Amino acid sequence: MKHFLQENDFSSEEIKEIFTQAFDYKANRNQRPTNDLRGQTWGMLFHKKSTRTRVSFEVGINELGGNPLILDQASTQIGRGESISDTIKVLSRFLDGLIIRTHGHEIIEEFATHSTIPVVNALTDFLHPCQIFADCMSILETSCSSQNPFSELQGKKVTFFGDTQCNMANSWILAGSLFGLQICLSGPPAFAPSEEIKAYLVKHNLESTWVHEPDPEIAAQGSDYLYTDVWVSMGCEEEEKQRKQIMAPYQVNERLLSLAKPEALFMHCMPTHPGEEVTEAVLSSSQSILFDQAENRLHMQKAILQQLNQH
Ligand code: CP
Repeated sequence: MKHFLQENDFSSEEIKEIFTQAFDYKANRNQRPTNDLRGQTWGMLFHKKSTRTRVSFEVGINELGGNPLILDQASTQIGRGESISDTIKVLSRFLDGLIIRTHGHEIIEEFATHSTIPVVNALTDFLHPCQIFADCMSILETSCSSQNPFSELQGKKVTFFGDTQCNMANSWILAGSLFGLQICLSGPPAFAPSEEIKAYLVKHNLESTWVHEPDPEIAAQGSDYLYTDVWVSMGCEEEEKQRKQIMAPYQVNERLLSLAKPEALFMHCMPTHPGEEVTEAVLSSSQSILFDQAENRLHMQKAILQQLNQH
């Protein structure tokens, strides 16, 4: 049984197939629906709010000829304390796959442990692998000559600003290791990359290709891509005031963009908070590709589901 809980769950060969398939789905979207998930029902269990992930999975499953089934805590026995193992053992009897957005990464791991259907990570507090695969697709389509992430992403510098302990920062660290990207994480020392992600790299024998640079102006220099995310991640609302203060020097603005390579692009996984982690001027500049990133969630996730369905 194959799951997609973290970026390194697929082999190199599978990743190449996924990227090729994602570009193919994008180029041939007018041929929808395909029969790739025909007659199947995939559950979607979201413990956190979502616009892009939820809609892109729901639309994507429909476009693959399958049926998405939205589940939530409030209207199921999960909200009344039914165990994860019983829940997934029962859901495995009904569904063909389960997509989960939740809090702790250990929650999705527990679902996967007891599951006989594929489980897909639609974001945990630790990682956001569907977003990162779609972002790498966006990089490939904007400035690379082929669709092979292993040959084309090698050596490109992605600089992530802000909360460098968040799930997106962790996912960039893993993407760097997989694809040979140079990952620069620029945030306050108090939010430097966590021991958890460092231990994960060691445990999975993954190469570290990242550095932490607390000076945002030094970090921006030579960057091919400037990336940021909200300063106050879901679940951190109580720290909002302190986070906004400490992260202020890491706002992606025209000054930081001017220090990167002249052809550098700005990326954001959205939702944005203009005037906080990024300025309106950068968001609306011709160097900003965030809507391509959002669209590519659809094509990439379809390719991920198609790949999982082959196992
Ligand atoms: N980027 C992302 O995951 O967006 P949503 O929270 O809207 O799904």
